[in-house]
Amino acid sequence: MISNTSHPEPPVSSELPRRSADAVRFTAVIGYPLAHSISPRFQQPAFDHLGLPVRYIARETPPEELPAFLTELRGPQWLGVNVTVPHKEAVAAAVDDLSTEARLIGAVNTVRKEGGRLIGHNTDAAGFLRGLTDAACDPQGVSALILGAGGAARAVAVALLQAGARHVTVANRTVSRAERLVANLAASFDAAHLAAGPLQAEVVRPALQGAELVINTTTVGMAHGPAAAAAPLAAALLTSLPRDALVYDLVYNPAETPLLQAARAQGYRTQGGLPMLIYQGAASFELWTGQPAPVELMLAHGRQAMAERE
Ligand code: ATR
Repeated sequence: MISNTSHPEPPVSSELPRRSADAVRFTAVIGYPLAHSISPRFQQPAFDHLGLPVRYIARETPPEELPAFLTELRGPQWLGVNVTVPHKEAVAAAVDDLSTEARLIGAVNTVRKEGGRLIGHNTDAAGFLRGLTDAACDPQGVSALILGAGGAARAVAVALLQAGARHVTVANRTVSRAERLVANLAASFDAAHLAAGPLQAEVVRPALQGAELVINTTTVGMAHGPAAAAAPLAAALLTSLPRDALVYDLVYNPAETPLLQAARAQGYRTQGGLPMLIYQGAASFELWTGQPAPVELMLAHGRQAMAERE
């Protein structure tokens, strides 16, 4: 860092350096394993586009190395970090404070530094809602069916309930997990707006009939996953959904999952998971830099990274 006696060097802070002469600072995505993350592919061009001296790296972090990394993160060379599987809950428990969303979701995907303190945020909810807006679906008053009951389902449920959804049903292969998630949400939201059930035709059909929105948060249909060629709902079941409903799949690889393919073939509106991935990253970028993210540029780089995978 350049300093002279008439302009004393400022104390180290977590403010983003404004001048290119300032030392490069780091951000990263941490997770384990991390081989498939495309976050560096769309985050680095965003920092470069704004001329910010920041490097975004993928830092594979086995669980036993997480405490040491969080100590390192407090150092001035770090601007902040993205957090992915399996660390989202552990980081939520380890930071100094949480945003409202992160507290409600019980998971952190972004750490921002404020004067040396680590603040846990969750931009998955905002990313999901922005993807919904892109697909011309207003969550206010909507009745939604969520497939799956993991961390992604929880972020989606919180996003919808915070945005004024009328009703949210969580259907999961392991019904006890869906019930636990709904019981947990009922501590913060009106239980009258919530229901849980198994991922079975007789339960899912009535929920579909009354839904304007279905969201897949399971890993079914994900490339290289255990059920890559499958859909979480049988195509015949989908017909129970009202004609103007939206089918939203959080899976972003492939761009069109078997579920979305079936939905599109039946004339439903669809939304894939890549925009949500980019939007949560753009929200993280804005938390770190305080500047608007170049979202279109990030989307283009995200699409390019996925195209190279195919
Ligand atoms: P995340 O936290 O990323 O949401 P997760 O906690 O591993 O991921 O949850 C994965 C979700 O996909 C779960 O709802 C899981 O169902 P179970 O709770 O019954 O395991 C769901 N899932 C995974 N494989 C599935 C399959 N073959 N059929 C139906 N659901 C499946």
